[in-house]
Amino acid sequence: MAASPGSVLIWSRSSPPPLPEEQAPRFFGRRRGKPLRRTGRGLVEVLLPRLSIVLPPAGETLAVATLFPDPTRALWLEVGFGGGEHLAWQAAHHPDVGLIGCEVFLNGIASLLGHIQRDGLDNIRVFPEDARTLFPALPDACFERVFVLFPDPWPKKRHAERRFVSQPNLDLLARLLIDGGELRIATDDPVYIAWVKEQMAARTDFEDVTGEPTVKGEDWPATRYETKAREQGRQPVFYRYLRRGG
Ligand SMILES: C[S@@+](CC[C@H](N)C(=O)[O-])C[C@H]1O[C@@H](n2cnc3c(N)ncnc32)[C@H](O)[C@@H]1O
Repeated sequence: MAASPGSVLIWSRSSPPPLPEEQAPRFFGRRRGKPLRRTGRGLVEVLLPRLSIVLPPAGETLAVATLFPDPTRALWLEVGFGGGEHLAWQAAHHPDVGLIGCEVFLNGIASLLGHIQRDGLDNIRVFPEDARTLFPALPDACFERVFVLFPDPWPKKRHAERRFVSQPNLDLLARLLIDGGELRIATDDPVYIAWVKEQMAARTDFEDVTGEPTVKGEDWPATRYETKAREQGRQPVFYRYLRRGG
């Protein structure tokens, strides 16, 4: 599998520098589950370093075009890919697109690596950390599509500021999406459904093109959490928003 993580860096005045460590966002989710089996451990030790995105020094911008061995038509991002089934499906069905997946949960990362190896995918790169740490190092308008699928709902009111769909994060995603680029959000949690509606209604830079929220297109495969939600009798919703031109 060809894999040479991009290490060529370019300076861009328009992009904010990476956050100093003391301002780095705090992550509240789980980082590890059960101990990995031998195969998972092997993938994490051998394949992950080859596919991982390494942050450039503070103030420099990641040269995203050099992340993939072949030129890509567009770049897509998945935040919190879980077991990676959706990311791997998109990569297999869109070989001309480069996909960046961010995930903090090691067992999920190992699962994605299994998909990558089994399916021989060379158009996925992994940021095995909090996505918000990567954002400042990315150039403006680098993504054509961003997926945020079944983000941790943090349903208690006192945890609301932990929810990924939030005005500060939407500001960051608005900078990273091209005009006309698409943000997809899915959730099955009643609190989060109302929350997403409220957060997105406050945006003038995103146009809601959702249509019927319980219906998704053929190009939107189920994630593990979607399957779990349906098995437990919850109806997920699927939102689509387009980045308005400035
Ligand atoms: C509820 S799970 C859903 C996983 C997957 N998207 C699915 O639908 O099956 C949410 C995932 O997002 C990850 N996550 C939450 N915040 C994140 C962040 N800021 N950066 C990267 N991953 C994040 C968590 O580690 C967790 O695995």
